Amino acid sequence: MTTVQAVVAPSTASILAMAGKGGTGKTTLSALLIKYLVDRNMVPVLAVDADANANLNELLGLEVGRTLGEIRDSMKTETPVGMTKSQYMEMHINQAIVEARGFDLLVMGQPEGPGCYCMANSILAQVMEGLSRSYRYLLVDNEAGMEHLSRLNLRKIHTLFVVSDPSYRGVLTAARIADLTSALQVKVRQKVLVVNRVPRQMPEALTDQVEEAVSKTDLVFGGYLSASEKIFECEINQRSLLELPSETDAVAEAYRIFDRFLLDG
Ligand SMILES: Nc1ncnc2c1ncn2[C@@H]1O[C@H](COP(=O)(O)OP(=O)(O)OP(=O)(O)O)[C@@H](O)[C@H]1O
Ligand SMILES: [Mg+2]
Repeated sequence: MTTVQAVVAPSTASILAMAGKGGTGKTTLSALLIKYLVDRNMVPVLAVDADANANLNELLGLEVGRTLGEIRDSMKTETPVGMTKSQYMEMHINQAIVEARGFDLLVMGQPEGPGCYCMANSILAQVMEGLSRSYRYLLVDNEAGMEHLSRLNLRKIHTLFVVSDPSYRGVLTAARIADLTSALQVKVRQKVLVVNRVPRQMPEALTDQVEEAVSKTDLVFGGYLSASEKIFECEINQRSLLELPSETDAVAEAYRIFDRFLLDG
C-alpha cells in the first residue's frame, strides 16, 4: 500500500463507521468489512482504530507501531527546530500507518490527558482530511459511545453500522445510539442495524422487536449475523478473521449486508 504523498485520489474517501454498545461485535464487523472491501477490490481502504483499547489489529493479524495519540503528545515537545508542527505530525502519521494487502491501518490510541490539545487536534483533523483524499474508503472502528466520532472531526458519514446483540434491550439500545448520532455535528447518509450473534434457532419474537425498534428511528434494518464457531475459533487461536473462507455463515451474511448498502456508490 501507498502513503499519502504517493496517491492523490480526486475526491475524499467514503466514511464507514461502527457504533453499538460494548462487546456487541463492532470490531468483528469492522474486520469483516475490511475483508469484504479488499475481496471486492473496493480499495484502497484506511482502517482507523478509534478504540482507546485498540484491538482491531489483532483480528487482522497486524502489529501496531505508534498511535496517533502518542504522535500528538510528542509533537508538543519533540518537533525539531526548522520543522513546523504540522510537518512533524504529517511525517510521523505517515510512518505510523501499518500497510497491509489492500488496506492500511492507523491506530488512534489513548485520548488526550490534561492540558490543551486544541492545536494538536486541529492539526490532526487537517492531516486526517488530507489522508482521506488518498483512500476510497475510510473505516472507523469505535469503542462504545459516540464521542470518539467527534474526535476525528468527520463531516459526513456514508454508512454508520449500529451493531446489537440479539435481545430486545440490545436492539432498543441500538435504536437509542442511532438517535444520539443525530445530535453530532456529522451528517450520516444511512444508519444500518446489524443484529449479531444470532442463535441457529432464531426466536420469532426477536424479528418483531427489531421491526418495532427500527420503526421508531431512522435506522434501516441491515440483517442478522449468526453466532459463528469459526469466529470463535479465530478468537481463541488468535488467527486473523481475514483468513476465514467467504462461505462461512457469518461472513456470507455480512457480505450480503455490505452488498446491499455499499454497492450503490
Ligand atoms: N458473530 C459472532 N460469532 C461468534 N463470536 C462473535 C461474533 N461476533 C463477535 N464475536 C465475539 O464477541 C466478542 C466481542 O466482539 P467484538 O470485540 O467485535 O465487540 P466490540 O463491540 O468491538 O467490543 P468493544 O465494545 O469492547 O470494542 C469477541 O470475542 C468476538 O470474537
Ligand atoms: Mg471493539
